[in-house]
Amino acid sequence: MSEILLQIDGKQVEAREGMTLLEAARSAGISIPTLCHHEKLEPFGGCRICIVEVEVRGWTRRVVSCVYPVEKNLIVRTRSEKVDRIRKMILELLLAHAPDAFDLQDLAQEYGADKNRFEKEASFCIHCGLCVRYCAEVKKKNAVGFVDRGIRKEISFIPEIASKECWNCKECFPLCPTEALQAAFVLTKALSFPPLSFEPVSEE
Ligand code: SF4
Ligand code: FES
Repeated sequence: MSEILLQIDGKQVEAREGMTLLEAARSAGISIPTLCHHEKLEPFGGCRICIVEVEVRGWTRRVVSCVYPVEKNLIVRTRSEKVDRIRKMILELLLAHAPDAFDLQDLAQEYGADKNRFEKEASFCIHCGLCVRYCAEVKKKNAVGFVDRGIRKEISFIPEIASKECWNCKECFPLCPTEALQAAFVLTKALSFPPLSFEPVSEE
């Protein structure tokens, strides 16, 4: 596999063909924020927080670094006035859904995002899809999925599968950048899981 030389934040970076800009940056110790990315999952490109600026033959444009492949001689800037402004706006929109999410709050502080800019629509889920994709792609169980569409879209555990598979797994819980996933699981468990059955105590 051939090596590709590119420049990220002024640093010469050697990447392998097929790597994304995010992977190349991380391999060189340069951090880019992500919300929907996970190294075990197929590239998704949903949240857009990992947007960066690239310069090719004098033209500058913004691309989603977790899905954009490395190119020879590309000049990449992971921060710029415009990139920061876009990230700030994305965070303000997401904070309207999950105002208390720690991951969002940390990023909000870094990018000066105001969590009260947009009217609150606290659904807690920011639709990053990490739980759904992890369960499908890594665990191959599909115990959690999205229901409905557009602004009404929300995640839901499939009780028949979740009641068998989730007890001893819960690997998706720490992936959720908000508290939505655990809340959905607790709700499904309370409403739909079969009651625990106990073996009758035999009388001697
Ligand atoms: S529940 Fe959490 S992990 Fe799942 S899609 Fe929503 S925010 Fe992402
Ligand atoms: S981390 Fe790249 S789009 Fe979400």
